[in-house]
Amino acid sequence: MTTGGAGFSRRAFLGAGAAIGGLAVLAPTRTGVARAAAPFEPTREVALTAGEMELKLLGPDKPATRILAYDGTPFQTLRMPRGTRLKATFVNGIDEGSTLHFHGIRMPNEYDGVPTLTQPLVQPGSRFVHLLPLDDPGTFFFHPHCDETGQAGKGLAGVLIVEDPRDPDFDAEHVLCLKDWRLAEDGSFLAMSEPEGAAKAGTFGATRTVNGTPSLDLTAPAAGHVRLRILNLDSTRIMDIGAEGGEAWLIAVDGHALKPVRLDDLPDGIWRMGPAQRIDLDIRMPSDGSPVTLGDYRAADIYPFATLRADGRVARPRKGPLALPSAELPKPDMKQATRLPFTLQQATGQAVKDIALPADDPLAKALIDSLCVGSTTYWGIQSESWPTGTNRNVPPPLARMEEGASYVVAIKNETRFPHPVHLHGHAFEVLTSSLDRLPRHFADTVLVQPGEVVEIAFVAAPGDWVFHCHILEHMETGMMGWFRIV
Ligand code: C2O
Ligand code: CU
Repeated sequence: MTTGGAGFSRRAFLGAGAAIGGLAVLAPTRTGVARAAAPFEPTREVALTAGEMELKLLGPDKPATRILAYDGTPFQTLRMPRGTRLKATFVNGIDEGSTLHFHGIRMPNEYDGVPTLTQPLVQPGSRFVHLLPLDDPGTFFFHPHCDETGQAGKGLAGVLIVEDPRDPDFDAEHVLCLKDWRLAEDGSFLAMSEPEGAAKAGTFGATRTVNGTPSLDLTAPAAGHVRLRILNLDSTRIMDIGAEGGEAWLIAVDGHALKPVRLDDLPDGIWRMGPAQRIDLDIRMPSDGSPVTLGDYRAADIYPFATLRADGRVARPRKGPLALPSAELPKPDMKQATRLPFTLQQATGQAVKDIALPADDPLAKALIDSLCVGSTTYWGIQSESWPTGTNRNVPPPLARMEEGASYVVAIKNETRFPHPVHLHGHAFEVLTSSLDRLPRHFADTVLVQPGEVVEIAFVAAPGDWVFHCHILEHMETGMMGWFRIV
């Protein structure tokens, strides 16, 4: 019998893991947040079944890839009106545990989809019902919250658009889901995470796609206003979204309207967008029928992912921007707000002494299956790291907050890499950036650059909410914590 790195037997270790798997350590840690639920009358019901399907990502003449998708539709897009009471049943049709998380939706905590914290893992063949009040209009998405580098990395995600009847009347609208894939030449997946990537900027995919194809040819009337909903659904890549050929305004971030800003008036003429972030753009097509191109300008080799071409029609001319109705979100009270600083760090101390298992080790797989944790710790928030490796205890909350009170959280990035930081269950207001690059806006995820301090403010909603980096490898190797709000 071989022994593990810490000098004890692997079998004993696996046995202990299995025993713990059935006992109290895994029990949800929620206490005291239970309250009588308001009656919920669904006005729309959907079932979302996770499963495998084939998609030709390498090209029409190349081998297909077995990706993961909900209901056999890559990045399927659900649209429903604001005010919908959605009953969404998640059905786990894949061969490992999963959960469903509706990213950016303000909802009762129990439907948030975070295993161990808000619900048990949904085992293969099982289901979980989410009851979601869709009160905020905007561009949202949903994804698993377990083994995310694996499941989301293989494509498991969908788009949820909450429509507002008060929105301006655009001449065309398109949804663009950007995601890279880690593929071998035979169409199979390469390892989703390499230690070299996980400990640094992340492990990148080389096959870049938008809606599952290399680039999109879209149409719109000349002189028309086009609404583009652009989602960064990649696990790793930060993108600099820019447009050429027409006028472009940023009209919403993470679904929430902001005072329109001309892309050209932002630093470098781009909006920098990390994994999980979304933007809505209003593009005014040239009246002479010439095209507009959209690209990611971050790397030297620009990735042009969409071209908008005139479709022969000419729209009635309207000056831009077509602004969305302003977001109606809880407004933090800045005078009363409690200030809390948090630091994004490389992992130090105890955390890094955790036993690191190679990702393909069956034990590592078993651990990931039972608690959705990674095998190694590289990162932390406030020198606390979310459990990885052999440590399966949910850590204490990063902060305890009071329901209905206002908080200003200052997020300081002491690492050498940018981190898109996401808070569940809230829309926060991005107040300031020490690098002075962000307009004030509401969001659910904010990109914090190396050395930067970004201040966000929000009104605390009751529940246990995770706060984590949305570069999935960073999250799975420690950069996650949670707030308990009662
Ligand atoms: Cu997009 Cu914790 O999630
Ligand atoms: Cu990160």
